[in-house]
Amino acid sequence: MSVLDKEELRLRVDADFNRIVELLSKKVALKSVSAQGIAGQHMRVSAQFVADELKQRGIDAKVVQSQNPDGTPGAFEVVGSRIVDPNAPTVLLYAHHDVQPVPDPSAWDTDPFEATEIDGRLYGRGATDDGGGIAIHSGALHALGDDLKVNIKVFIEGEEEMGSPSFIPFVEAHRDEFAADVIIVADSGNWSADIPSLTTSLRGNTDLDVTVKALEHPVHSGQFGGPILDANTLSCMLISSMYASDGSLNIPGLEGGDPVGGLQRDLDEEDVRADSSVVDSYRFAGTGSLASRLWTKPSISVIGFDAHPVEGSFNVIANETRFRLSVRTAPTQRPEDAARAVTDFLTEHAPFGSEVSVETLDTGMGWSMDPNAEATKDALEAMREAFGTDAVNKGEGGSIPFIPELQRIFPNAQVLVTGPEDPKGNAHSPNESIDLKSLKNNVITEALILEKLSR
Ligand code: BES
Ligand code: MN
Repeated sequence: MSVLDKEELRLRVDADFNRIVELLSKKVALKSVSAQGIAGQHMRVSAQFVADELKQRGIDAKVVQSQNPDGTPGAFEVVGSRIVDPNAPTVLLYAHHDVQPVPDPSAWDTDPFEATEIDGRLYGRGATDDGGGIAIHSGALHALGDDLKVNIKVFIEGEEEMGSPSFIPFVEAHRDEFAADVIIVADSGNWSADIPSLTTSLRGNTDLDVTVKALEHPVHSGQFGGPILDANTLSCMLISSMYASDGSLNIPGLEGGDPVGGLQRDLDEEDVRADSSVVDSYRFAGTGSLASRLWTKPSISVIGFDAHPVEGSFNVIANETRFRLSVRTAPTQRPEDAARAVTDFLTEHAPFGSEVSVETLDTGMGWSMDPNAEATKDALEAMREAFGTDAVNKGEGGSIPFIPELQRIFPNAQVLVTGPEDPKGNAHSPNESIDLKSLKNNVITEALILEKLSR
């Protein structure tokens, strides 16, 4: 059986590329924001769109609604398969069809739900995260067509951005539809649009709600201000107590490590400054390589804060405040352990004897790659051939809680984390975009990986 080479695959992908971009544009227009309800009609429509698309690529695909752990209707998942030879290896292709919300469309330069091409990038919510993943799978399957020599299973998730709450029972109920030798998770990204990467690790994520209470009710800020600090100030003191003066976290039991598999190349501070849009005067917090600070050490962000809006505020001392922390955990620390370490720290450091209580919301485990997995060699080779340059492996600071769960259920499956993103992609932010040249090379890469895995 002859193996398709990169030239032949590039010709096929070139010929198909308009369709791929059109598919991505239609996907953006579907506004599949899972935060607006995973069981909503808009999510069903999005799932059906993806299933129909996969059917045209020869996949026997369908939409299945999962069930939340509390029994309520869950997300619309797309599952499918194409078995070409029971003796051939089986590859599970993963992406998610839900997207992040757009809280402020005016912060965008284009309509977030109308895909717009500017200077080789396609802009729109979900254009990269993770419409790009769906486009990669679709393009690779089209390029291989009837030359496909591995069995394919597909899972396109409908609630990744919500932390995959109904995922475990769903997989347990659909074990056969997930069992695979290799899993390709196209939900991460490359070093840059020109330099490909396998992702070596992902951080976990744990959300905590913290309540700080000083008084039973608000009081006059002139009459009581001085000995009595307001709950907002106390919260800020509590938050800053988690940090050393150099800006690194100072919480016993919250683990941090070094880049998985060793650091091939550290991130360039100037690039990170530009890609993050940090103001000129800002100094980076923490110590150690920038890569370790972004990939394998923990971080904590305040993602919500219940304080009185400035507009209409008046002279009272706030009695009670609540804020939400997103804790990114080291790839190998159990999120429950990290949550306990942070919870203990916060309750033990309640400023001025205020009442501090902490509630753990979702937890999602991080992940680290098995460097010895056979499939990684094929993937790195495919990347070199498609991009014309060696891959530079990287970790990721973001989380894909689906991966460790699936790895736990199928311990023998080899996981390849790839994806459409590059540092200029603005995932989760205004002006999200995908680099189209890079998308094309990602499609060719995945087709080559599937070819190589058949040997
Ligand atoms: N695709 C991202 C994860 C990611 C981000 C990979 C940046 C590579 C670079 C994924 O869709 C995501 O955002 N996940 C959530 C998971 C959370 C809800 C547990 C995240 O990281 O916030
Ligand atoms: Mn994603």
